[in-house]
Amino acid sequence: MSTKKHILALLESNRGQSISGGHIAEQLNISRNAVWKAIKELEKDGYRIKAATNKGYCLCEDNDILSVQGIVPFLSQKETADKIFVYPSLESTNKTAKEMAISEAKHGTIIIADQQTAGKGRYGRNFHSPAAHGIYMSFILHPAQLGFDTPTMVTSFAAVAVCESIEAISEKTPQIKWVNDIFLDGKKICGILTEAVTDYESGNVEWVVVGIGINFSTPDFPEDLRQIAGAVFTGEHFPATRNHLAGEVINRLTANRCGKKEMMDKYKKRLMMLGKKILVIGAEQPYEALAVDIDDIGRLIVKKDDGEILSLSSGEISIKVCA
Ligand code: BTN
Repeated sequence: MSTKKHILALLESNRGQSISGGHIAEQLNISRNAVWKAIKELEKDGYRIKAATNKGYCLCEDNDILSVQGIVPFLSQKETADKIFVYPSLESTNKTAKEMAISEAKHGTIIIADQQTAGKGRYGRNFHSPAAHGIYMSFILHPAQLGFDTPTMVTSFAAVAVCESIEAISEKTPQIKWVNDIFLDGKKICGILTEAVTDYESGNVEWVVVGIGINFSTPDFPEDLRQIAGAVFTGEHFPATRNHLAGEVINRLTANRCGKKEMMDKYKKRLMMLGKKILVIGAEQPYEALAVDIDDIGRLIVKKDDGEILSLSSGEISIKVCA
């Protein structure tokens, strides 16, 4: 790790408190001048650092730059940090994750970007991913170590992890729109895209990449998203940082898993359409049905008006809650 990163790690783990230049120099076995130079580099990167005579350096509480060092204080397993890679900008974290999965990735590797220039949504759609407002992260997971049998269950698990993480850092109660969208106050605040990396010859799923895009604060959304997209926090001051929320999500997605039934119960509890009339849009003519339940592999059970019961998989259809 570079001197700059070592100093950032010290500042991030003492956020809001001053650490003397002498103490930093001693800890890292470097000169005070080297500390000063690294502080200046961090300021150039956008960090607001207060320097006071006889007190030292203090990272202001409102800094919100994503970094491994900023996430570490929130990790329950500190060694997870070795598998986290944070970039200022990527085309798509899922794309980078899939490339890494093919070459040398370990189970639990996490790719995070401050901004995506070609963020990918479901059905080939674009996922709006501006800098400084979101958390765009992809987890590389090995199917054998996952404990869930289907991609739908992995996505459900990720959706529960994101909801619980938001609940942990705020007073908010997000809800899940089957299967992968997270809503708050009627607006979508997070989308999840799970992709498989298959072996060309055997056709076996070698890796699963779970991509999570969270709108943390409200950017200047383009016109077509303004009515439908929201953010975890609106306004200017937030009770937590993106690093904190990213850490919470990582803790939940990399923790020893709860059982499938427990996970599905947590998922169902947050589902926004159970017991409601929905419009099912798929290959055939759209039809209205009652959303009855989720089965144990994450399919949505619906009852059509003529009484027919159907189990729907997410890849085939999309749904809308009827007004
Ligand atoms: C959707 O709502 O359609 C799914 C959106 C998934 C977006 C995330 S952001 C991180 C990861 N990288 C991508 O390119 N897409 C996913």
